[in-house]
Amino acid sequence: MKAAVYYETGGPDVFRYEDVPDPTCGPGEVLVRVEAVSIEGGDTLNRLGGDLTTVPHIVGYQCAGVVVEVGEGVDDLAAGDRVVTVGLDGSHAELRVAGRAFCWPIPEGVPTEEAACVPVPFGTADDSLFEFGRLQAGETALIHAGASGVGIAAIQLAKRAGARVLATASSPERLARLADLGLDHGIDYSATDFVEAVRTLTDGRGADVIVDSVGGSNLQRSLHCLAYRGRCVTFGDAGRETPSTLDISTMRANNQTLVGYFLGAELFLGTRAHAMIAGHLDDLAAGGLRVVIDRTFPLAEAGEAHAYIESRRAFGRVLLVP
Ligand SMILES: NC(=O)c1ccc[n+]([C@@H]2O[C@H](COP(=O)([O-])OP(=O)(O)OC[C@H]3O[C@@H](n4cnc5c(N)ncnc54)[C@H](OP(=O)(O)O)[C@@H]3O)[C@@H](O)[C@H]2O)c1
Repeated sequence: MKAAVYYETGGPDVFRYEDVPDPTCGPGEVLVRVEAVSIEGGDTLNRLGGDLTTVPHIVGYQCAGVVVEVGEGVDDLAAGDRVVTVGLDGSHAELRVAGRAFCWPIPEGVPTEEAACVPVPFGTADDSLFEFGRLQAGETALIHAGASGVGIAAIQLAKRAGARVLATASSPERLARLADLGLDHGIDYSATDFVEAVRTLTDGRGADVIVDSVGGSNLQRSLHCLAYRGRCVTFGDAGRETPSTLDISTMRANNQTLVGYFLGAELFLGTRAHAMIAGHLDDLAAGGLRVVIDRTFPLAEAGEAHAYIESRRAFGRVLLVP
């Protein structure tokens, strides 16, 4: 099969478009012919640095397509079914193998390209807001990187749960596009101090739940605009800062909570998160949730697609099509 691979981590130009052996389908697994790859925020970070588990390496968490073969023990999917899949790597390719617990059938009426964008962003947003953030109707949620994949999912989920939704982004144009997804107040952090803005918008209380995908100094500042009894959920390092020591000295007196979150662990350890994500796909089919696709590139142009995302111009998801 063809795949976008790299031999060392680095900038988007590390990608090579090459022939590699087809993956094989083991017991409990599903082999998929990929039709749409959703480039996740973690894919660009994994390409940028860190250890390579295989060389050449095929990066990528999430893609959707058509089942080609099912392994022993998989009796509820068959060749020809459309599925969206998640795995630790391997999405940037013509074929992908995933464990059955990391596959979701695509509901009728949902385009494969849209389904490709659902599990990781919507699962992460939902768990951060509700399972770990304990967001209640009437509370205020601050969603960082509102124009990101997770951000766009979180804005919709928080709004429909009856919360007041604040979000940050790097330009007023990006924030303006979030209004019809449920954003109540946008904060352009390139021009405004978001800590001050959140305090002003909440009459000094702060946000009840903060969903922080940016990390680094952003996470520190999130703690400075967290309400009494507030919950801050950290799950990403999109800001690309080296992890720094956090000052948590203000948290105890304010009965606040800081939670780390990893969707992969929830999917590995039980069935709850799988069912939650199946619900998001059904909601997409029913028109209750929306996926925003910015641009599509051929798989052969994975480097150009990653460079476009890192130029900060992407709004929502960028896809690769084999
Ligand atoms: N723990 C988990 O289970 C989990 C699950 C999903 C995602 N994540 C993590 O969450 C983060 C976001 O994922 P995503 O898929 O939502 O990402 P994405 O769609 O690629 O968006 C990333 C956003 O980060 C913002 N950003 C801030 N500083 C940036 C910088 N220096 N360079 C590039 N972008 C920057 C950009 O928005 P502005 O330009 O508007 O600031 C951009 O929209 C990633 O770190 C990812 O690894 C973790």
